[in-house]
Amino acid sequence: MPLFDVYPLYNITPVSGKGMFVYDENGIEYLDLYGGHAVISIGHAHPNYVKAITHQVSELGFYSNAVQNPLQEQLASKLEIMSGCTGYQLFLCNSGAEANENALKLASFKTGKARVVAFNNSFHGRTSAAVAVTDNPSINAPINLQHDVTFLALNDIDAVKGELEKGDVCAVIVECIQGVGGLDEGTAEFFEHLDALCKINGVLLIADEVQSGYGRSGKFFAHQYYNVEPDIISMAKGMGNGFPMGGILIHPDIEAKHGMLGTTFGGNHLACAAGLAVLNTLEKEELVNNVNEVSSYFREKASTIPQIKKIKGKGLMLGLEFDFEVGDLRKKLIYSHHIFTGGASNKKLLRILPPLTIQKGHVDQFFEALKKVL
Ligand SMILES: Cc1ncc(COP(=O)(O)O)c(C=O)c1O
Repeated sequence: MPLFDVYPLYNITPVSGKGMFVYDENGIEYLDLYGGHAVISIGHAHPNYVKAITHQVSELGFYSNAVQNPLQEQLASKLEIMSGCTGYQLFLCNSGAEANENALKLASFKTGKARVVAFNNSFHGRTSAAVAVTDNPSINAPINLQHDVTFLALNDIDAVKGELEKGDVCAVIVECIQGVGGLDEGTAEFFEHLDALCKINGVLLIADEVQSGYGRSGKFFAHQYYNVEPDIISMAKGMGNGFPMGGILIHPDIEAKHGMLGTTFGGNHLACAAGLAVLNTLEKEELVNNVNEVSSYFREKASTIPQIKKIKGKGLMLGLEFDFEVGDLRKKLIYSHHIFTGGASNKKLLRILPPLTIQKGHVDQFFEALKKVL
């Protein structure tokens, strides 16, 4: 049976991983500055993670959300403390798109309205409402166009004001650091004004932290760089270090009703064990501090390379912008120097999304290779 051919593939077959590296079937070592698309947070095959998952699957891998699952409560308590999102409630699901789908649905339930404001160059996932608020018509099928979405330019606060004052908007959804779009960000003034406008107009602010969350930005969540209080925060990627896991944090003002949201697999025992191992490791190894330290080092090194025109992003969610398209550069880094990096819809941008355990030596290895390729 052929696989449905939707992914352009590099001709590399990783079969194992350890820390910052993955290994192919011939034992060739690749430095992972891509983290499987910002997913690997605590490193490949981290011993605490392997131990927690192995133990849990040998006890109970799954049971449904119809029974008590104390692991979900443990995860929620730990997440509340580590994120600083005091009082928020947790709903668990399985992916980033699903997190945003639930966030949008909840905003619509809460306000009784349906229109959403999103931003140019956004990416929020592939399911129905999530893809409709994604600024890419080529991945929206006719069935997705039923949603009522208005796209605005990031930082155009007057346009946001005009739309919210029409009174039919349920939510504004925004990435505090754009991922797939290419690491563009709103200003502090924009985010703080946006938060205030949402509150004045009874519109829910959804911070999509699917990629920027869990310490990647140098704070637990990227919106914490600003004085804002989102109504809903969506999370996924780094949450399970590769175990499929997503969730939303829901402001205490939003009241739950039985049946309002639901899922078969979300928050299962194995996912919670993975999620707890990630949080425990982030804490024990002080990985958010490491993100900031290595990020500064990376930026310093990048600033000495004349071909790099702009360094974008925060923490270990970084983009290096060149004045040429980086497709060939990425290929040379992979095939000649065995280093994974990421691309973006901005074709001149090289994305750097390593495990948060990265050390300065790995950064040196990257820049030596980059200089050779350039
Ligand atoms: C900001 C953001 N939101 C949502 C998603 C969708 O996540 P998933 O692929 O887990 O559905 C992504 C994936 O790249 C993302 O970067």
